[in-house]
Amino acid sequence: MAVIGQDISRAKGVLDAGELVAIPTETVYGLAGNALNPAAVASIFETKNRPSFDPLIIHVPSLGAAENYVTNIPSPLRKLAEHFWPGPLTLLLPRKSNIPDIVTSGLDRVAVRVPDHSLSLDLLAQLDYPLAAPSANPFGYISPTSPKHVNAQLGDKISYILDGGNCKVGLESTIVGMEEDEIVVYRLGGLDISEIESIVGKVTVKSHSSSNPQAPGLLESHYAPTKPFILGNLNEMVAYYQEREVDFAVLSLSQSFPAVPVGNQIALSPQADLKDAATHLFAAMRTLDESNATVILAELMPEEGLGKAINDRLKRASTKG
Ligand code: TXA
Ligand code: MG
Repeated sequence: MAVIGQDISRAKGVLDAGELVAIPTETVYGLAGNALNPAAVASIFETKNRPSFDPLIIHVPSLGAAENYVTNIPSPLRKLAEHFWPGPLTLLLPRKSNIPDIVTSGLDRVAVRVPDHSLSLDLLAQLDYPLAAPSANPFGYISPTSPKHVNAQLGDKISYILDGGNCKVGLESTIVGMEEDEIVVYRLGGLDISEIESIVGKVTVKSHSSSNPQAPGLLESHYAPTKPFILGNLNEMVAYYQEREVDFAVLSLSQSFPAVPVGNQIALSPQADLKDAATHLFAAMRTLDESNATVILAELMPEEGLGKAINDRLKRASTKG
């Protein structure tokens, strides 16, 4: 198992040696390595078992630091960075040649963000390279929102996890770029579209076009538990599985089910607050995946605010008929 601690200089030592460290961010934990060192980046892909055509986000301590790795920042995207960095926003920007091909899978744009977590910002400020970091989970599985989640799955492959507690946003960053004059959202995430639109006006959401080769690795099946994960009307599904005497677990927004054992159900937010629900989503999916149920039943959230990003994750996690 990896050591879990808050020692920034230890984390720096591991990274300087070309090895990987799990780092906390406000969204999810990242599996970080020196983005300018192709061998370190290669070991990220290997550790996660991630296909190398799926490019990585680089993490920097500030907008000023981002300028070292991109040739220019279109003004609407600069405005977004000024408003929302540090925060759950990733920008796709034209890369400088100092960013190795392996980081972007050969694409012309590099994904950049400034994470909102004091430990990781302190660490980044001490490094003379950005950190490439995908979510710290095996490819395709649920993203980790606590050091324990990371240790459970990657603990035998990395030596150190920087402990920043539970992630406060709980959903990956929203990914934004430009195509001609159009502002495009490629992945729904922790920064709500309406907040983005309040700064730069109307945006286009392309997060579902899996046919678009420029789109982020939006593979249809992702964020998935190992158990069958079924989306639908919870009251109907609960009745159906109860009748058939199947051991099931229930993931709801706020509803509880008196006939289902407490250990087999999680309401994401008793107040039906979507931000709160986002924070708890991945941990809840893991808990139910580890329960003794044979199937997990879940419902979609209202399609508003962060509900859209949560629904995106739920749909990708769900078992296709
Ligand atoms: O919140 C987050 O973004 C977390 C934390 C650790 O920062 N990171 C994260 O990384 O979610 P990952 O690798 O799990 O997801 C990054 C997404 C992928 O879908 C990838 O395809 C897309 O970003 N992406 C990265 N670079 C890209 C590029 N140059 N062009 C298009 N999509 C890119
Ligand atoms: Mg991921």
